[in-house]
Amino acid sequence: MKFQNVHIIDDTLDALANLVVENGLIQEIEILDGRPDPAQPVLLPAFTDLHAHFRDPGFTYKEDVVSGSRAAVRGGYTAVNLMPNTLPVVSSVAQAREVEDRIAALNIIHANQVVSMTLNEQGQDCSHLRSIPAGTIPFVSDDGKGVNRDDVMEEIFNICKEKDFLIMAHEEDARYSPQDLRMAENAMTFRDLKLCEKTGGSIHFCHVSTIEAITAIAEAKAKGLRVSCEVCPHHIYFNAEQANYYRVAPPFRKDEDIEALIKGMQDGTVDAISTDHAPHTPEDKANGANGISGIETAFALCYTKLVRGGHLTLNQLVKLMSTTPSAMMRLNKGAFKVGMKADFVKVDLNEPYIIRAEEFASRGKNTPFEGQQVWGNVLETIREGQTVYQA
Ligand code: DOR
Repeated sequence: MKFQNVHIIDDTLDALANLVVENGLIQEIEILDGRPDPAQPVLLPAFTDLHAHFRDPGFTYKEDVVSGSRAAVRGGYTAVNLMPNTLPVVSSVAQAREVEDRIAALNIIHANQVVSMTLNEQGQDCSHLRSIPAGTIPFVSDDGKGVNRDDVMEEIFNICKEKDFLIMAHEEDARYSPQDLRMAENAMTFRDLKLCEKTGGSIHFCHVSTIEAITAIAEAKAKGLRVSCEVCPHHIYFNAEQANYYRVAPPFRKDEDIEALIKGMQDGTVDAISTDHAPHTPEDKANGANGISGIETAFALCYTKLVRGGHLTLNQLVKLMSTTPSAMMRLNKGAFKVGMKADFVKVDLNEPYIIRAEEFASRGKNTPFEGQQVWGNVLETIREGQTVYQA
């Protein structure tokens, strides 16, 4: 299969090219002379989401593996990392493989199912991690909740260091949540940076949202601690007022937080942009559920705010949404390189469009971005050379 005269952009390239794809892999890349026509769509490496909720098993009325996979490709994603706060909670490798196998059978996207870092996300017991062979799972997480007990968290750091599992931490100290969600995120982030240093372990901070947390993470990186972090599109697009205090955890913040997160993207403190795709029904939202159905709006929100807004180049955005998260998931994708998977997304950067939740493939229509005008429409998503979504 050939892609002729296409405008390819990845973390480093921005060129006209001919691509040859065979057996789902990029076989040849011929860079052409001449300037790409800015009216033409661009081809990017398909996105990888380090942080999504497909709600399957247990909450399939909100989302299931089919609707979640279709939503992913509609958003330009061909790989997702699924959080374990399902029913039952995913606390074993067997449960994780079961979800992964059902998604693989659909042949739409690749999925890794994360295993919880405490048993059933109850925050008390991490002994189940001891029985998982080293290196067999990339990540553990209790996403949706913080692990409040310091002793349990320290043990998780130690086990994960020995086994080469990466902690994906939801930083929220429940003691502060009722009255101060900024304190809740900051306090647990600071504790985990201390534990990271003490144990010599490593940690990935999920959905970082405060200036204090991102500053502390930058300092820790400068000291050489093994830390990484992600930021979500919604947290950089709207402040709390603009979002009309839409419920999400962590919450929408202030302009100074947004500025600090963007600076973190510019200077390399932020490793990845993750969606925290969190589909809910209108009833569950009305009853206070936190979350945004975000996987179908992620690229357009980021392109509009960050690239059109003059904060990042498209190369930098591709690095955050594709190259680095793919590498963190140990996937052979995320750039235009011979031998890498032919996972591409074709996007239109010229015509604005209006976000309409009723058009989402996700079962979750919960978004504070209804009616927003954005740029960066996903026209087509290609996985291993096959079209898996077309607008
Ligand atoms: O807003 C959120 N929703 N944040 C989380 O951490 C969990 C997620 C969910 O599962 O609904």
